[in-house]
Amino acid sequence: MSTRTVELVEIDERRLLRRLDDLAQRGALPGGGLYRPLYSSAWASAMELVSAWLKEGELFVRRDAVGNVWGRVEGSRGGRAVVTGSHIDTVRGGGALDGALGVVAGIEAVASLWERYGRPTRILECVAICEEEGSRFNTNFWGSRAIADRLEPNEAERVRDPDGVTLADGMRAVGLDPSNLASAVRRDIDMFVELHIEQGPILEDHGPRLGVVTTIAGSAHLEIVVRGQADHAGAMAMTRRRDAMLGAATMALAIADVATKMGHPAVATIGTIALEPAQVNVVPGVARFTVDTRHSEPARRTELITQIGDACRTVARERGLDVEIRSLRDRPPVTLSPRVADVLRRACFAAGIPPRDMTSGAGHDAQVLSAAANVGMLFVPSIGGRSHCPEEATAAEDVVLGTRALATALHELAYQA
Ligand code: GLV
Ligand code: MN
Ligand code: MN
Repeated sequence: MSTRTVELVEIDERRLLRRLDDLAQRGALPGGGLYRPLYSSAWASAMELVSAWLKEGELFVRRDAVGNVWGRVEGSRGGRAVVTGSHIDTVRGGGALDGALGVVAGIEAVASLWERYGRPTRILECVAICEEEGSRFNTNFWGSRAIADRLEPNEAERVRDPDGVTLADGMRAVGLDPSNLASAVRRDIDMFVELHIEQGPILEDHGPRLGVVTTIAGSAHLEIVVRGQADHAGAMAMTRRRDAMLGAATMALAIADVATKMGHPAVATIGTIALEPAQVNVVPGVARFTVDTRHSEPARRTELITQIGDACRTVARERGLDVEIRSLRDRPPVTLSPRVADVLRRACFAAGIPPRDMTSGAGHDAQVLSAAANVGMLFVPSIGGRSHCPEEATAAEDVVLGTRALATALHELAYQA
């Protein structure tokens, strides 16, 4: 890293914290937590709020073909853009900061720079990305893949939500035209910087209060279908059953064992399971579950997936069951830009914090956008390492610190380059 020093950029911290609270009302669930699935009314209302804040900041606002909302300040030299932002959708029962922090902090940073320093030399933009989580449809990274030209042929017509609604119909319901997807592609982004909560306990447990992400783990999503035999729950002897649920349960333990034995940062999660015929008095004939498995090293990740498959086939053989393993999606690990990481480190030092270099176990829009731009990510601590749950939180002073560091990095990238 160069020893060049930069000056910390001020922001309006009250506006930042108030907006985070306001955004957390859009999609708030009565029992706690949030749910803003893609193209839902909660999602549309959150995007309206974001558009209003961008307009209030006197940015040029537009919605692209998939519903990403952009705010833009023209640069005196034109050229390729410097962009910040994150996603607006949430998981079911998620928290107020996953994605939202990067959107609100991005707007605050860009608006503060525009207010305090006027026109940048580079084009400076902030984006609220429409979807990252797989929040509704059977896909993920829909917003950033549209920007990076990574959508699959006919994906909008093919991919459905659990009620059978296609992505294309979901788009039409919020006034978007699915025949226009190609216009969302951006080939003119130079840098993308995303502020995000860590979603794990490292910064809280070991410090410091800021982390610079160097690598994002790759994820693989698998669907595993176990087939046994449906039988009467009262009359069929325990020793003669081919119970698909018990097979799935044994496989789940074996899968967790594979990841645990491989060691950090290998992880594997069984996040959904469904039984057929799903009746209280019937031995399950079919069990269908998903596995989300991740590792930051490509070779280890491949080994992890292979070992998970082997473990499931062994259990199936031992229990007289059939098993099918299908890849739902595969996102490789990504190394972020060392150049942007240096800019972020300088910004952290300006904020008085020598940052920690980190690997992200969580997936981020940044990993997809790294196919189209030089990408960097900044982490702030998550209280208790909690995320994807209603308890997800970050201390207000860390939210402010991270936003100041983000604004400082954008200042260097868009005003001093
Ligand atoms: C999104 O948060 C993911 O990592 O799956
Ligand atoms: Mn998330
Ligand atoms: Mn996120």
